[in-house]
Amino acid sequence: MSELVAVTIDDRPVEVPKGTGLVEAAQAAGVEIPVFCYEPRLGPPVGACRMCLIEIEGMPKLQAGCTLTATDGMVIHTAATSAKAAEGQEATLEFILVNHPLDCPVCDKGGECPLQDLAFRYGPGNTRMTLPKLTVDKPIPVSPLIALDRERCILCYRCTRFSEDVAEDGQLIARNRGARTEIATFEDEAYRSPFSGNVIELCPVGALTSTLYRFAARPWDIQNVPTICTACPVGCNVSATIREGKVKRILSRNHPEIDRGWLCDKGRFSYPHLRAEDRITTPLRRGKKGLEEITWDDALDSAEEMLRNAGGAIVTALSGSETTEIAYALGRLLRGGHGAHSAVMPEATSTALEAFHLPLSAIGDAEIIVVVGDDPVVERAPIVDLWIKEARRHGAEIVVCSPAGDLATEPGGAAARCQELATPRDALGKKLRAAERAVLIWSGPGGGGGARLAELAHELGLEEKAGSGAFHLPATANALGAAAAWAASADADEANPEPIELLIVSGDEAAADPSVRALAEEAKRVIVLTMFHELAAGWADLILPSTAALERDGTTMNLEGRVQRLRRAVPPPCPDELAWIAKLAARFDVELASEAPGVFEELAGHLFRDLALDDLGLHAPLPARQTYETPAPSSSLPAASPAASLETEDGALRLQRFRALFSGPAVERVAQLDFQRPDAEVELATAEAERRGITSGDAVFVRSNGTSVELRARVNRKLIEGVARIADEHASDLHAVVEVVKA
Ligand code: SF4
Ligand code: SF4
Ligand code: FES
Repeated sequence: MSELVAVTIDDRPVEVPKGTGLVEAAQAAGVEIPVFCYEPRLGPPVGACRMCLIEIEGMPKLQAGCTLTATDGMVIHTAATSAKAAEGQEATLEFILVNHPLDCPVCDKGGECPLQDLAFRYGPGNTRMTLPKLTVDKPIPVSPLIALDRERCILCYRCTRFSEDVAEDGQLIARNRGARTEIATFEDEAYRSPFSGNVIELCPVGALTSTLYRFAARPWDIQNVPTICTACPVGCNVSATIREGKVKRILSRNHPEIDRGWLCDKGRFSYPHLRAEDRITTPLRRGKKGLEEITWDDALDSAEEMLRNAGGAIVTALSGSETTEIAYALGRLLRGGHGAHSAVMPEATSTALEAFHLPLSAIGDAEIIVVVGDDPVVERAPIVDLWIKEARRHGAEIVVCSPAGDLATEPGGAAARCQELATPRDALGKKLRAAERAVLIWSGPGGGGGARLAELAHELGLEEKAGSGAFHLPATANALGAAAAWAASADADEANPEPIELLIVSGDEAAADPSVRALAEEAKRVIVLTMFHELAAGWADLILPSTAALERDGTTMNLEGRVQRLRRAVPPPCPDELAWIAKLAARFDVELASEAPGVFEELAGHLFRDLALDDLGLHAPLPARQTYETPAPSSSLPAASPAASLETEDGALRLQRFRALFSGPAVERVAQLDFQRPDAEVELATAEAERRGITSGDAVFVRSNGTSVELRARVNRKLIEGVARIADEHASDLHAVVEVVKA
C-alpha cells in the first residue's frame, strides 16, 4: 500500500497517496481547482494557462496547482477561500479574454465550453478592453476534417501535446513566439493522422472544431446516446450526438481499460455513411427489368420461397460487423431444418486466447511487447497502436516481427516466427519468459484466428502472470461474437453443399469481399443483406436493406473478448433485422425473439456465462480468464508459410497486400475522409528500388498476368527484399506475383 500524506484544501482535511497531483487531491476533498491546459492523459503538466492558481500556506506567491503534488501537511486555498487566489484567477481570465472574440453565440463550443463556464464562475464580470482586438484569418482548414479559429485559441498546448506525445505524429506545432505564437500544422500540410479528431475534443475552447459538426447543432437541442464503435475490433466506447433523429457527431466516452478517451478518425467521422446516396431502405428483387422495389411482405415471401426451394443447399456468408444477436438469429433461422448448410465466417477465431485475457490498458504497462503478423497494428486496431506507443514511452521493449518490422519476417511467416519464439533457446523467447508483464499481439491474417498465438503464450507460461496476455486483432469488429453466436445457434455438423442453390450474404463487409463475390458466381440464387445499393446491385436476386451499428440494439465482443452493449442512437430507415428474421423464422416454426434483449437472453446461457444485459452497464467488464485448452488441430496452421514457398521468377516480387484502416464501404461514402485513404503507392525495399533505378516518388507500373497498375514508389528501408507492399484498394486487380518497373 502506498504511503498516505495529509493535506488540507479549503479547510477540508484529506489523505491521499504520496505523489498525488493537487488537482486530484482537491477532487478527493470535494473541491475544484479549475484547469484548462492540465490533462494527465497527455503526460506531465506544462503549467501553460495559469487557470489553476492557488495559495499554499508558507509560499509567498500564487502557485499553478496542476504542476504540484501533495506533500504531508500542505495547507491549500483555492479561490473559494483565498481572495488572493480569486484575484489571480480573475486576472488570468481577463488576460485570456483580452483578444478572445467572445463569439459564443455562433461558436460550436458554446454551451459546452470550459472557457465559457470558467469565465462565468471565476472571471471578471465585465471587460476593461477598449482597444480593437487582434484579428486573424479564420477559419483555417487544419485538414478536411478540422477547422482552426486562432482568435479563440488560448494556447493551452493540449492539441500539440497530443500530436507530439500521444499520437506521436508531430504534425501539429506551435510556431512563432510570445504574443505571436499560433497553432499550425507542420509546413502547413493537412493534419493527416488516424487520430487527428481527438484534438477537437481536447481543445477546451472552440478553436478546433469538426468540419462535419460546425453549425450543425447547439448543446441544448441534442441528446447523447452511449454506444460502441464497430468500425474495428477495439470497440471504443462512444457517445452519438443526435439532433432531430440524425447523428451529428461521435464523441469518446472514455473506457479507461479500452480506449482511455481516444478515438480514431474512422470511428469518429464515418457516421455520414448512414445517409449515403445509395443507401437502400426498401427491399429489391430481380425481375425481368432488373432490380425492382417490393414490399416487405413480398420480400419475406420471396425469401421463404428461396429457402424452401434450395433443397438444403444453402451457404451463408456472415460479416464480422453483425451484432452477436443478428448472427445468432440468422443461424437459428437458416440452420433450422433446411438441410445441408455451411457458413463462410468473416475469419477464423480461437477461444484458446480466453486463457490470456487482459485489458488493453495493460499493454501500456508492459515490459515487453512482441507483435507478429503482416499487417501494421494501426491499420487493424488503431487504439492498440496508441497503447503500444505509451508502453514504448514508459521504456518497454517493442519487437515487431513482420515484413517491415524490427525482426524481418516473410509475408505469411508469423506462424513460423511463433514456433521459433517458443523454442527454449530463442533469445527473444527467453526475454518473454523472464518478463512479468509480457504481451503478444497477432496482427494479420492466418494463425487460426489467434490459435497459434495462444499456443505460444501457453508455451511461455503467460496464463500464470496477471500482467501478461495475448491479443489477436481480427479484421472486423465482432468477429469473435459473430463466430461464437453462429456456433451456438445449432449443434449439427454441416456439409458443403454442391452446387450452391442459395447464397445468403449478410452485411456490407461480406458483400464487399471478393471471395464472397466469387461464391455468388457459383450460387444459383443470392440474397444480400446490405445498406448500400452499389454493393449488391449487380449480382443479388433479392436485396434486403440492413441497418447501421448506430441504428442497432445488441452486443458485440471486442478483441479482448469483452461483451459490450450497442444502443440504438437513431431509428433505422428500414425494419430492424431481428424483427423480420423473427417473422421469417416463424414461417419455418422456429421461435425467435424479435428484439435484441430477448435474443441476448436466449444466448446468454451458452455463450455469455449467464451474463445479463444489465451487467454490461455503460463500461462493460472484461470476462475472467478461462483455463487454457489446446486449440483443435484444425485451427493450428502449418508452420511453413504458404507465401514463403511461392516461386518467383527473376526480378518478380511477391505482392503483400494490407487492408488499410481508412477503407471499406463506410469510409468510401464520406468525402471528408478521402484524404485519409491510403496513397496509391507501392513500397519497395531499398535494394529492390536500387536494382530497378527507382527512388521514392517515381511513377512505376506494377504488373501481373497482363494487368498493369500505375502507382508511386515509396522506398521503405525496413521492408524485406522480394516484396511489393500495396494497400488492398490499389492492388485489387493484381495477382500474387508482380513486376515493378519505372514508368
Ligand atoms: S487550439 Fe485549442 S487545444 Fe490547441 S492550443 Fe489552442 S486552445 Fe489549446
Ligand atoms: S479504434 Fe476502432 S473502435 Fe476505436 S474509434 Fe477507431 S474504429 Fe472505432
Ligand atoms: S491548468 Fe494549471 S497552468 Fe493550466
